[in-house]
Amino acid sequence: MATGRRKVTVIGAGNVGATAAQRLAERDYADVVLVDVVDGLAEGKALDLNETGPVVGYEATVTGSTNDYSLTAGSDVIVVTSGLARKPGMSRDDLLLKNQEIVGSVVRAAAEQSPDAIFVIVSNPLDAMCHVALSASGFPSERVVGMAGVLDSARFRTFIAWELGVSVRDVTGFVLGGHGDTMVPVASNTTVSGIPVTELIPEDRLEQIIQRARDGGAEVVKLLKTGSAYYAPSAAAVEMVDSIILDQKRVLPAAAYLTGEYGFDGIYLGVPVTLGAKGVEKIHEISLTDTEKAQLASSADAVRELVDVMATKA
Ligand code: NAI
Ligand code: 2OP
Repeated sequence: MATGRRKVTVIGAGNVGATAAQRLAERDYADVVLVDVVDGLAEGKALDLNETGPVVGYEATVTGSTNDYSLTAGSDVIVVTSGLARKPGMSRDDLLLKNQEIVGSVVRAAAEQSPDAIFVIVSNPLDAMCHVALSASGFPSERVVGMAGVLDSARFRTFIAWELGVSVRDVTGFVLGGHGDTMVPVASNTTVSGIPVTELIPEDRLEQIIQRARDGGAEVVKLLKTGSAYYAPSAAAVEMVDSIILDQKRVLPAAAYLTGEYGFDGIYLGVPVTLGAKGVEKIHEISLTDTEKAQLASSADAVRELVDVMATKA
């Protein structure tokens, strides 16, 4: 059923994609199109989500599609979650070449149907997949953004709140850099209602918390055994969609294409951005300690390495 509502497409009806579709339907500000390559999967989950509307009280229509991108036409935002997910013992980088192929093909098909859309990339390895999406879409870089920082920061914020016995809502902090083992939780910018966390938690304990945040994805994979996290990842992706669809201009950590900011050029890296109706409307350059700068540089090297591998295999 066609409506005059905004439209958000979610590609990949697996754990992250289907949960994101559920969260979006419950937001009720847009119709949702869910796409998957597996016959009937997206249609089945879409039907289930439509039948949830009367109970939860939303009117959004969810359309399922097996590879039919004409149903995604005119989307405002396209969230890309298709691809392989981590299994125990796999790093995000193990997913590189297969997901390069998948993300490239779905982004090309979706971009053709929705030339004005904004892509929110979720598939891993995240920063490398943003490069794939940028090139496959041919869109300007402000309309191709990656989700990782909101998730990694949420993990960091959770562990700090637990440590201090305070509300998670009062902990703000950024995790920057690539979404990999070299991500950079920025302690110097993390506060509890404005109080620097460095004044509240001793340095050695803070270092342990930082390491747990860095390993946050792997910790969940190890427990689940058959896949990776999806409640927090879908919530993080949808927080970004909110900011775009509702033009909230949230300042969120996200993978953005740098052209000189922080001294890096031509690379996707997690940095604080203003996210609004036009996509990445501003990249904020915050001051970092020398150690954080060095960590950001090695994170950029790790992303660059993956981009180079993809270039040789393309
Ligand atoms: P999943 O395996 O549950 O779902 C992936 C879905 O993609 C499957 O339903 C599969 O059939 C579909 N798919 C595969 N090829 C496709 C194609 N060509 N077209 C359409 N659909 C296709 O995996 P999950 O847990 O949903 O994770 C999805 C991706 O997101 C993974 O790459 C994972 O590593 C990544 N991820 C990234 C996070 C981040 O912070 N950026 C956080 C969590 C997951
Ligand atoms: C995560 O951080 C696997 O990237 C995914 O949970």
